[in-house]
Amino acid sequence: MTKHLISIEDLEREEILQILKKAEGFERIARGRKSKLLEGKILANLFFEPSTRTRMSFEVAMKRLGGDVVNLTAQEISSIAKGETLADTVKVISKYVDVIVIRHPLEGSARFASEHSEVPVINAGDGAGQHPTQTLLDLYTIMKECGGLDGLKIALMGDLKYSRTVHSLIKALNMFDNRIYLISPETLRLPEEFLDEIDAEEVELEDVIDEIDVLYVTRIQRERFPDEEEYMRVAGSYRITRETLRRAKDSLIIMHPLPRVDEIDVEVDGMKCAKYFDQAFYGVPVRMAILCEVLL
Ligand code: NCD
Repeated sequence: MTKHLISIEDLEREEILQILKKAEGFERIARGRKSKLLEGKILANLFFEPSTRTRMSFEVAMKRLGGDVVNLTAQEISSIAKGETLADTVKVISKYVDVIVIRHPLEGSARFASEHSEVPVINAGDGAGQHPTQTLLDLYTIMKECGGLDGLKIALMGDLKYSRTVHSLIKALNMFDNRIYLISPETLRLPEEFLDEIDAEEVELEDVIDEIDVLYVTRIQRERFPDEEEYMRVAGSYRITRETLRRAKDSLIIMHPLPRVDEIDVEVDGMKCAKYFDQAFYGVPVRMAILCEVLL
């Protein structure tokens, strides 16, 4: 059976831990050591939404493992917009390559694509839906930096309404044993459907800053707002600075899927707690592990 990765819930806790363990073994290759593990395999990147980190880290992961990558260009995307259905595009491309990585603005699109593909499909973000590979690298970061994935106090902060990285991560955290805090502007709270499923508490940052182990910050997902005025009302409404972190635990780590807009002041970047650039690097070994999982 073709192995797809569409939602983090496609994986069980044990499978997640196995991928993270595999990723650890790939760190040296991610830093430049040669490998031919995926020689002869070709990955197609189908990005219908902008991406820097996700697309490039998939490309780097594949190439450092000896594989090859083809990308759909902006021009080709516009010819698809002229009429070819996503089903046909995926059907054809899956005859050319060994694995497809897709990002699309519509929720459910990656699942739909997998139903029309002859090769594994990996969801690199479907609208405000899921972003499972980001979640795996987020978990990897927590595991590496906090020494484990249980017994932690984790605060998710920012746009909890539209952020797919949060929607995925929260489902994964549900498989582990942690205390989850939610911090967001009133209009950007986590949707009810998630609140029903998870045990999390809505709080203010100043109430928990001195006890949390992880602060996961997200940008306001401007492109998902139905109207610009609504965005303007919340833009710039939260920001992490040295001052906000004054009472934080010495061991606190700050994560962010990036890109950052203004929600973390650059003055925080030099602090020991700032882990978001390491987190971005971890995307490479984690995506190597994912590629091996679906291809070998
Ligand atoms: C995230 C995304 O695309 O959902 N970016 C990423 O993959 N690192 C987060 C975001 O765009 O804010």
